[in-house]
Amino acid sequence: MKTSLITIAYIAASALFILSLGGLSRQETARRGNWYGIIGMLIALAATAAAMDPSGWPILGGVLIIGAVIGATLASRVQMTSMPELVAILHSFVGLAAVLVGFGTYLGPSNIPQNELLVHNIEIFIGVCIGSITFTGSVIAFLKLRGSIGGKPFMLPGRHFLNLAMLIGTIVLGVLFAMAPGVSGNQYLMGAAVLTGVLGVHFIMAIGGADMPVVVSMLNSYSGWAAAAAGFMLSNDLLIITGALVGSSGAILSYIMCKGMNRSFVSVMLGGFGTESGTVASTASGEPAGEVRQVDASTTADMLRQAKKVIIVPGYGLAVAQAQHSLAEVVKILKEGGTEVKFAIHPVAGRLPGHMNVLLAEANIPYDVVFEMDEINHEFPGTDVSWVIGANDIVNPSALDDPTSPIAGMPVLHVWEARDTIVMKRGMASGYAGVDNPLFYKENTLMLFGDAKKVVDEILTAMRS
Ligand code: TAP
Repeated sequence: MKTSLITIAYIAASALFILSLGGLSRQETARRGNWYGIIGMLIALAATAAAMDPSGWPILGGVLIIGAVIGATLASRVQMTSMPELVAILHSFVGLAAVLVGFGTYLGPSNIPQNELLVHNIEIFIGVCIGSITFTGSVIAFLKLRGSIGGKPFMLPGRHFLNLAMLIGTIVLGVLFAMAPGVSGNQYLMGAAVLTGVLGVHFIMAIGGADMPVVVSMLNSYSGWAAAAAGFMLSNDLLIITGALVGSSGAILSYIMCKGMNRSFVSVMLGGFGTESGTVASTASGEPAGEVRQVDASTTADMLRQAKKVIIVPGYGLAVAQAQHSLAEVVKILKEGGTEVKFAIHPVAGRLPGHMNVLLAEANIPYDVVFEMDEINHEFPGTDVSWVIGANDIVNPSALDDPTSPIAGMPVLHVWEARDTIVMKRGMASGYAGVDNPLFYKENTLMLFGDAKKVVDEILTAMRS
């Protein structure tokens, strides 16, 4: 009876996790999706506690409370821009857990029949290896994102050869481990954990800091597979399902991010792109790429007020400046004045998936004025003002016009097709991709220099006066 109840609880939790992922895919249903996930996790925890020996409850309760307090404190303090580093360190815990579960399962008492032992040991070996690479890789990603270690790719000579050698070494250890009788293969398991741990460090150290969001998403996928492997070791169906959901959704997210940047996953993993962001870009000859026309905040306020239709394109700079709340006030005034205002969201605007959607939701900007790139790109020609705030690469026309550009082929927002384009940023620095942006020199583009928060506040003041 108890077992069947636990099975039902696990099925319910799995269904809720699937509903949660479905809900999180749309802004309107994201809150509901979160709740499905929370309820699913509570059911999973209750069923796991019910399934175990009651003598373990005090320890389980103790660690749950400590973990919940640390998690809640960290999550409530974290800035949106620091979210990737929080996610990275959380993945490292999943990896470490898979390693510990692997050793615990191997060395602990076992009632696995002899004919299933080989498969069981292979599960343990794979779980430990994926866990170890996820653990060390995520710690390095965390340290890079935090700035504790430099974001520059660390490239050892012959690094691909080194990676291959470590991979082959791990496979050899795996064969020795699988052939070892009883628990005598522990040394091989330990050797493989160390080797894959070093592989994780080496692999992630070679990737530029700016590519870390894609790497974090890839590590998210690994952490899912590590959890699924732990599920196999513990014969826990829920852990297998949850791990597979996380593993596959992380992989899909990495794919979507790479597609949004028009880069192959392999080229991201090989590094060397996006590491020079923040430099002032120029042409190949070193000449300034052209003249720019500047505008001030009060003229911008007038242009926006007089426009019938405005499309706002937010980017990474809006998030850094935290200008979303002032922007929401400006939007309110414009809408009250009869201007049609829409937001255009590029799939990789900012530095993490859904970055801009979360930012706008924080400022209570209604969902019905927020549009995905494909939904709105054709509307720029009928727009009076396209207003670019702290965005750069995602509005770079060279992605379409210049086949030699590092971002050639990346889908971009066609802001230049509006009657006027106002670009707001602090100076002429490049964005993430480190390339010059011909948009700034177009005839219908006006540059409004300054910190996004400060300038939006000035526009707001001008509109109110
Ligand atoms: P970026 O191309 O990085 O441009 C952001 C611009 O914001 C910079 O050029 C910077 O210029 C300006 N800025 C910075 N701080 C500012 C502030 N306080 N006030 C005003 N402006 C400020 O950003 P984007 O257009 O959002 O494009 C995102 C890029 O990140 C893409 O290349 C994408 O491929 C990449 N990427 C995205 C993701 C995800 S999932 N979103 C993941 C990895 C990589 P100044 O310094 O001159 O102000």
